Amino acid sequence: NWQNSWVIANWKMNPSTQLTVTALMTDLQQQIPTDALQRCNVVVAPSFMHLSTTQQAIQHGSCNIGLAAQNLCAQHADKGAFTGEVSGAQLKDAQVNYVLVGHSERRQYFNEDDTCLIQKIRNAFAHDLTVVFCIGETQAQYEQNQTQDVLAAQLMVVKQLAAEFANTQLGNLASRLIIAYEPVWAIGTGKIPTIQEVQNIHAFINTTLTDIDASLATTPILYGGSVKADNAAEIAQCPNVNGVLVGGASLDATSFTQIIQAFA
Ligand code: G3H
Repeated sequence: NWQNSWVIANWKMNPSTQLTVTALMTDLQQQIPTDALQRCNVVVAPSFMHLSTTQQAIQHGSCNIGLAAQNLCAQHADKGAFTGEVSGAQLKDAQVNYVLVGHSERRQYFNEDDTCLIQKIRNAFAHDLTVVFCIGETQAQYEQNQTQDVLAAQLMVVKQLAAEFANTQLGNLASRLIIAYEPVWAIGTGKIPTIQEVQNIHAFINTTLTDIDASLATTPILYGGSVKADNAAEIAQCPNVNGVLVGGASLDATSFTQIIQAFA
């Protein structure tokens, strides 16, 4: 349900074994109250190696959990000679419904630029995958008061796609896009912006999206960066926060369940 809140787990390059994935999924399915899933969309993003194990756990469990990939190929191809890559078509075939694009770790360590991100999003949309598009400023940019400029520049990707899809698939774009605002300095650091800052930035993102196209006014905007069981309730109170993208705390079933309950 698009109007529900969203709690998305980004496991990153964790855990290191299939066994741990199975145990985590078993614990999660035991702990997440079924009624929470009626108000909150829960999605997990394992590594490519663990998509199939996770998908099997979802299929055999009682919880309606969505499956996301953390990445996809930027080449305009469903298959072919692209060693080490995974296509949107392959993700769809593996029953993946969502994909993260533009995470700061991909931008930083793998040099992903706007051209690459745009092609990834096109590939995802071509296979009906919902894109969780991640944006956020670095510590230096935050300190220099450049947050809004940085986010506006990163959202030019959405503007370009909206122009491409105009009059054809814009409705499709609006129903397949989730934004995750993740200040880079808050990722894995235990530092988070003030609630007022989160609220202001989310309002800014909403206005920017609405200016691109009115149909994007209801795009879910998630917060990410050091979300934990003990700060989730406060973040959930922010009017413009439609959910969270959780890294570290999503690897612990109890913490992740508490975060889900804060948004349910
Ligand atoms: O995608 C998730 C974010 O990078 C947040 O990670 O919750 O470990 O700070 P974190």
